[in-house]
Amino acid sequence: MNRLSGKTALVTGASAGIGEAVARRLAAEGVHLVLLARRRERLEALAAELGSTRGVRVSAYPVDVRDRGGIQIVAQHLESQGVEIDILVNNAGLARGLETIQEGDLDGWDEMIDTNVKGVLIMLRTFVPAMVKRNRGHVVHVGSIAGHQVYPKGNIYNATKFAVRAINEALALDLVGTKVRVTSIDPGLVETEFSEVRYYGDADRAERTYAGYTPLSPADVADTIAYVTNLPDHVNVLDLVVLPTDQRNVYVVHKEGV
Ligand SMILES: NC(=O)c1ccc[n+]([C@@H]2O[C@H](COP(=O)([O-])OP(=O)(O)OC[C@H]3O[C@@H](n4cnc5c(N)ncnc54)[C@H](OP(=O)(O)O)[C@@H]3O)[C@@H](O)[C@H]2O)c1
Repeated sequence: MNRLSGKTALVTGASAGIGEAVARRLAAEGVHLVLLARRRERLEALAAELGSTRGVRVSAYPVDVRDRGGIQIVAQHLESQGVEIDILVNNAGLARGLETIQEGDLDGWDEMIDTNVKGVLIMLRTFVPAMVKRNRGHVVHVGSIAGHQVYPKGNIYNATKFAVRAINEALALDLVGTKVRVTSIDPGLVETEFSEVRYYGDADRAERTYAGYTPLSPADVADTIAYVTNLPDHVNVLDLVVLPTDQRNVYVVHKEGV
C-alpha cells in the first residue's frame, strides 16, 4: 500500500549518494520533493529529471546546511509558496580525514561538527515547528553504524554520528504527545562519494574502501527510508541499523582478494 503518494519530502544532501537515491525512490512513490545541497548544477539537473519523468513537483535550493540565514530564506520561500513539509530527511553529512585525535586537522573537525551536528539541528529548528503545529510529519536522520561503535581513527566522525543518534532520541522525546514520527537510519558501508570526500579527492584510496566485498548501494538505503516513511501513522521505527552482509560491525568486514 502506498501511503507516500502526494506527500512532500525535503531531502538534504540530494546532489549525490544516499540523498540523491532517496529523492529518486520517493519520486517513484509519487512524493513531491524539495532538494537541498550546495552543488547547484547537479541539484537542478536532478530536479528537472524527476519533475519530468515522475510527474511530481520538485524544487531545488542550492544552499549549505551550515548557513542558518540561507536555510531561513528557503523556509520562508517554501511558506510563501504554500509548501508544507511532511517528511524531512536530514541526510547531508561528511567525514574529513582519518587521523588520530593527537594528529587531527581542526578545519576538518569544524567541517564535520558544523555539517553533521549543527546543520542537522538548524534543519530541525527550522522545519519541526510546522510539523508540531500540524500534528503530523516524519523526521528521518541518516545516522551511521559509526554512531553506535567507534572505529580506529574514526574519532570526530564517530562523535558527530553518536551526536546524531542522541539528537534523534532527544527529538523523539521532545515530540512526545504529538503524531510527529522520528527515525534514524544507520547504514554501514555504502558506496558513494563519501570516501572520496573523506580523502580530499584521492579516488584510488576511496576505491580501496569498497574493494573485496559487496557494500550497500545508495538505493538500498533509500529503500529502508521508503519503508519506514510508508508505515502506518501509528508505527514509528526509532532506529534502524542496515549493514552489508559482509559487514558485521563498524570495523569487521569480510574482504576477499585484498
Ligand atoms: N557512505 C557511507 O558509507 C555512509 C555510511 C553511513 C552513513 N552515511 C551518511 O550518509 C549521509 C550521506 O552521505 P553519502 O554517503 O551519500 O555521501 P556523498 O555521496 O558524499 O553525499 C553527501 C551529500 O551531502 C551533501 N552535503 C555535504 N555537505 C553539505 C553541506 N554543508 N550543505 C549541504 N549539503 C551538503 C553533498 O552535496 P554538496 O557537496 O553538493 O553540498 C552530497 O549531496 C551522510 O550523513 C553520511 O555521514 C554514509
